[in-house]
Amino acid sequence: MRNLNKKLNMLKNKHLLGLKEYPAKDLKTIIDTAYNFKTVLDRPIKKVPSLQGVTIVNLFFENSTRTKISFELAQKRLSADTVNFSASSSSLKKGESFKDTAQNIESMKIDAVVMRHPTPGAANHLTNFIDSVVINAGDGTHEHPTQAILDMMSLHEKFGKLKGLKVAIVGDILHSRVALSNIYGLTTMGAEVMLCGPSNLIPVHLKELGVKVSYKINEALDWADAVNVLRIQRERMGKSLVPSIREYREMFGITSKKLSLHKKEIVVMHPGPMNRGVEIDGDVADGDQAIILDQVLNGVASRMSILFLLCGGKNSDGER
Ligand code: CP
Repeated sequence: MRNLNKKLNMLKNKHLLGLKEYPAKDLKTIIDTAYNFKTVLDRPIKKVPSLQGVTIVNLFFENSTRTKISFELAQKRLSADTVNFSASSSSLKKGESFKDTAQNIESMKIDAVVMRHPTPGAANHLTNFIDSVVINAGDGTHEHPTQAILDMMSLHEKFGKLKGLKVAIVGDILHSRVALSNIYGLTTMGAEVMLCGPSNLIPVHLKELGVKVSYKINEALDWADAVNVLRIQRERMGKSLVPSIREYREMFGITSKKLSLHKKEIVVMHPGPMNRGVEIDGDVADGDQAIILDQVLNGVASRMSILFLLCGGKNSDGER
């Protein structure tokens, strides 16, 4: 294995597993570099040779639309060689272990793995078996670092800063890897974070991370510059933790009526996939206050930046 990143990784950590204690300097480098790559996406030929000769495997053990396509596009835009693995059509179905699967794939001379897995800590676990760069594309209810980075880039793009920004994260915090990565990333970058939702969906220990908590949506909207609306993750709830979808929408759903009670314009974000008419109404998601599709575009630019910086890429002039 070439282990490219040992010499060329431009960030402190070899892998991107989560944003807990991730250096602010490196988050800034990733976001700054993402802005550069975003210009590539506006060109008629949306491709640079930055990761020519680098081989990346996308290991997806769980469904994904945005993250999977976004990583694949980012890899193609950077001229990397990419291979997609789908657990449902692999030899895992014949009983092969996670470790054997990972080691067999790595022995084919790859440089990096992007992995989504339903088990918290799975990306970290993978680093015990392989030498390639590992990027966590979401591990169960634990972390989703690249989502938080694209969210921060989108906030930075909208407001011109992260420091001092007031971001309310609303909804099912308990089951949300997006929430945890955003809390780590935003607080590291000097933003203020408020969590809002039903009390049974906000773990009390999160207060120790320096965030505010409110159980009243109007209080959160009154405070916030931006609101990041989370999906009600019915597939992760063993039993229903909200009394009914109608009551949830009534109490916490982001509707134009609730937004109109506040004089300032609040920026509305959602990581997707959305439950329209549950945590967010369709007219809000499609309205001027929402930057949801900007987040998706910034996802490609952010992932280009992350891959470039972790895999020792060349710039658009072919220089390392
Ligand atoms: N935001 C996000 O992770 O979406 P997908 O599950 O579609 O990748």
